Amino acid sequence: MIQIVTGDITKLCVDAIVNAANHSLLGGGGVDGAIHRAAGPELLTECRTLHGCDTGDAKVTAGYRLPAKYVIHTVGPVWGGGSCGEEDKLACCYRRCLEEAEKKGCQSVAFPAISTGVYGYPKDKAAAVAVSAVKKYFRNEPHSCIEKVMLVCFDERTRDLYEELL
Ligand code: APR
Repeated sequence: MIQIVTGDITKLCVDAIVNAANHSLLGGGGVDGAIHRAAGPELLTECRTLHGCDTGDAKVTAGYRLPAKYVIHTVGPVWGGGSCGEEDKLACCYRRCLEEAEKKGCQSVAFPAISTGVYGYPKDKAAAVAVSAVKKYFRNEPHSCIEKVMLVCFDERTRDLYEELL
């Protein structure tokens, strides 16, 4: 089921948290910076072995000092006005992260609002893509081991948008 959670994703005791990373997977600001700070230096060491990540794809590492067991790194699309396939790429991030969580046997996965910070994706459009992509995944995977998907809000506007959609 889908749950709306407000707060810092690095504090959540779930099987996997999703990181809104960049192509290098070598850290950055925003939630990427927060996750690397909380996980500790071993996270970057493992990320270096992954040799980057394409937009829309997802790669898994351990969670190290985080309460979460895994970090699923994904690279969201940079908003370019909406006519460069951003919606499909964002939906792909959610699908690929859930696929990777499934492979690891996760029962709970927490997502930040991918692409809605530095990458400039309009929050209302991104929230709609997130909710529809997660629902579509479970329609296609009725026997999924994932029991709980948390959509983590770091601001009130994102929370309001998710609440309207759910
Ligand atoms: N917990 C939960 N959500 C958070 C946290 C946190 N600790 N910190 C930030 N957020 C939220 C932001 O408020 C935003 O809603 O995560 C969402 C995504 O914002 P960004 O972190 O800026 O990610 P994104 O827009 O996908 O841009 C990715 O930013 O940090 C760099 O390396 C990263 O280059 C990449 C780019």
